Amino acid sequence: MSSTYEMVSRRLRITGVPRSVRIVPSALLALALALTACSGGVHGTPGVPGVHDPYFPKAGNGGYDVGHYDLRLAYDPHGAGRLTGTATLTARATQNLSAFDLDLKGLDVQEVTVEGRSARFNRAGQELTVRPHDDLDDGETFRVTVRYSGTPQAVTDPDGSQEGWLPTTDGALALGEPTGAMAWFPGNNHPSDKASYDIAVTVPKGLRAVSNGELTGETTTGDRTTFTWHTPEPMASYLATVAVGHYDISRSTIGKDRLPVYVAVDPTQAKASREVLAQLPEIIEWEEYNFGPYPFSSTGAIVDDAKDVGYALETQNRPVFPSAPDTGTLVHELAHQWYGDSVTPKSWRDMWLNEGFATYAEWLWDEDHDGDTAQQTFDALYAHGEDDHPGLWSFPPAEPSGAAHISDAPVYERGAMVLHKIRQTVGDDTFYDIIQGWAVAHRHGNADTADFTAYVEKAAPDKDFAPIWKQWLYGEGKPAHP
Ligand code: TRP
Ligand code: ZN
Repeated sequence: MSSTYEMVSRRLRITGVPRSVRIVPSALLALALALTACSGGVHGTPGVPGVHDPYFPKAGNGGYDVGHYDLRLAYDPHGAGRLTGTATLTARATQNLSAFDLDLKGLDVQEVTVEGRSARFNRAGQELTVRPHDDLDDGETFRVTVRYSGTPQAVTDPDGSQEGWLPTTDGALALGEPTGAMAWFPGNNHPSDKASYDIAVTVPKGLRAVSNGELTGETTTGDRTTFTWHTPEPMASYLATVAVGHYDISRSTIGKDRLPVYVAVDPTQAKASREVLAQLPEIIEWEEYNFGPYPFSSTGAIVDDAKDVGYALETQNRPVFPSAPDTGTLVHELAHQWYGDSVTPKSWRDMWLNEGFATYAEWLWDEDHDGDTAQQTFDALYAHGEDDHPGLWSFPPAEPSGAAHISDAPVYERGAMVLHKIRQTVGDDTFYDIIQGWAVAHRHGNADTADFTAYVEKAAPDKDFAPIWKQWLYGEGKPAHP
């Protein structure tokens, strides 16, 4: 353990179907909006129903910025799979607002209040439009509470995968990349608006609810238990998770700073995951050595029995695996804690900043653990032609060819190849400075591809990166030279 810390100090330089409860005819709503807008001193206008994401235009909303989500959920898997929720968002208006949207898909809304006063609302597709009793002033902090319930519907991705609140054999698993969070709580469902979270989940006694951050309470009243979880660091909505079911829990700490570890494993996966999960502390320490200080106040993993899900997800603090993971997948999802969760894309176009880094982490792990070097992995990929691995060269990593392709091979493998080209150009010392410095520069924030290329150019001003950007990052087809 102590030798690991010497290593750390060496490389660490910087130390659906919408259902309205109340149907407001649109003409009346427009009239009401106009009246409200004129009633006070400020003339608010409605916030726009999306943040112009190039791949998911309806995701997120304009006019406000959420600072905190307080979610109180109750779920009974034995009943009709009914979810009951109260979500209180603390947000700041970024314009004078007469109305604003939240993203919520499916479920019934019983009541919306803004600053404690009942607010009108309307639903259309994934947009829940809220019209507060009084306009909100630009810069004003306000609280909006939504009471809702129903049986959550899965969200099907453009690529066919399912997310949202997904029933499992003994409970449910909530996964949100890219847009599934709106299937279980209302919010500003876009990675550009990160916030802290408190998530309380009430389940039948005997089951557990595991979420992000730290467990702050477990209280049984009658035949139900409430688990409360606190996420202090900013989190994108797609990284929020809840896992309900039977889990074996193990708690420990890592290193001299005693980073808390909370691992929840479905009993059916316990045997198959034991050896890989035992590597978690070693993986975190190896990643700290390579990527810099771990960016959050706790870590761990959730291993469920949800094979239909078919993918793992880097949910914050505690990545989710749909069955026992292998070492490479654990390395990948934990690497996302730095690249994706702490440094989060500004839009879904910047997905390669997540997946290229997490994939390159797997290459580096292999290189450092008697496997192929990153150069060998790069060469083996480059050997594939446009005929035998067309997917790899089908679009440039920085410009996925549509929403259905943001998790295709160019984003993962060719994204990692971009990082390897940078490493070849600058050498190991500067390369590790770059990936560590990048994680520090945008810690707990958002960044896009232009931020990254500018960062790299500044870190190595004597090198010419233009050919790498042109051919590897933005160029169509297979680059002519490895
Ligand atoms: N981000 C996940 C990973 O790399 C994969 C994934 C899950 C994903 N769901 C997705 C990627 C939806 C894009 C879209 O482990
Ligand atoms: Zn990934």
